Amino acid sequence: MLVLLGSACHDESQYPEGDRFDLTQTGPQNLPFGHGVHLCLGAQLARTEGPVALEALLDRCGALARGPSPMTWQRTLVVRGPVTLPVVSRPE
Ligand code: HEM
Repeated sequence: MLVLLGSACHDESQYPEGDRFDLTQTGPQNLPFGHGVHLCLGAQLARTEGPVALEALLDRCGALARGPSPMTWQRTLVVRGPVTLPVVSRPE
């Protein structure tokens, strides 16, 4: 069996806007850190570190916007995500 982790939370019957990036979006189940006995052991650490890292980045870079070059995607069956995401920094 091959589980397509990248499709988690994108089932339109459960997550009407699963393809839209929205940190406040809710659904029947939160799956980015897995589920059950193999639930990510680092989930609490990642949830604590994530906002700290983003705030530090935005403090230094100001507003970030998509850059002129296209983003590139990882083309594997299992893992889904960007390989590159060019951004431009606009200091505030
Ligand atoms: C944003 C960051 C992270 C994401 C999205 C993430 C995601 C996941 C997912 C989806 C799984 C389950 C894989 C499966 O079911 O086969 C997992 C497992 C695991 N994660 Fe993470 N993880 C993150 C960060 C971390 C960190 C920071 C640590 C350690 C400090 C960590 C340690 C682990 C371990 C040890 C497992 C295996 C748990 C087990 O099999 O019982 N993860 N992670």
